[in-house]
Amino acid sequence: MELVAQQVEEKLGSIYGIVANAGITRDNFFPKLTTADWDAVIDTNLKGVYNTLMPIIPKMYEGRSGSIVCISSISGEKGNIGQTNYAASKAAIIGFTKSLAQEAARYEVRVNAVAPGFIDTEMLNPIPEKYIP
Ligand SMILES: NC(=O)c1ccc[n+]([C@@H]2O[C@H](COP(=O)([O-])OP(=O)(O)OC[C@H]3O[C@@H](n4cnc5c(N)ncnc54)[C@H](O)[C@@H]3O)[C@@H](O)[C@H]2O)c1
Repeated sequence: MELVAQQVEEKLGSIYGIVANAGITRDNFFPKLTTADWDAVIDTNLKGVYNTLMPIIPKMYEGRSGSIVCISSISGEKGNIGQTNYAASKAAIIGFTKSLAQEAARYEVRVNAVAPGFIDTEMLNPIPEKYIP
């Protein structure tokens, strides 16, 4: 991400906004989850937020401006059958966002999260309809 941030800045100037959006699901009932399913979701959805924001945040603080949006999910707020790994990653994003928002406010950088309900994208393809509230 450091290289990406550098290339974006070279081409477009300072980064003033970023959406930490990447996310995947590996749904299954908890006893059937593999360690690989668990790790893939936590690494992409939670560590992905860290990887995305870490190279940008110090520069935003320096410039005393910026806006960050993290993408959580209704599953992170309410839980959902077959989504223990996904819900854990998305609930963690809410705690992360609330904490970073408090740190970043003094640098005039805003940090928010949105927690969408179910939206008909590719992500929904593997989820059986009966589990979509
Ligand atoms: N679709 C929904 O119902 C829904 C509901 C709530 C939250 N969300 C969240 O919205 C965000 C976008 O999801 P979407 O619905 O557009 O699904 P999507 O599958 O269409 O898009 C997910 C995107 O994440 C990218 N991605 C996945 N792994 C990545 C990685 N390791 N590095 C970089 N990019 C990676 C994919 O290339 C893809 O562009 C996700 O964080 C998802 O959890 C989706």
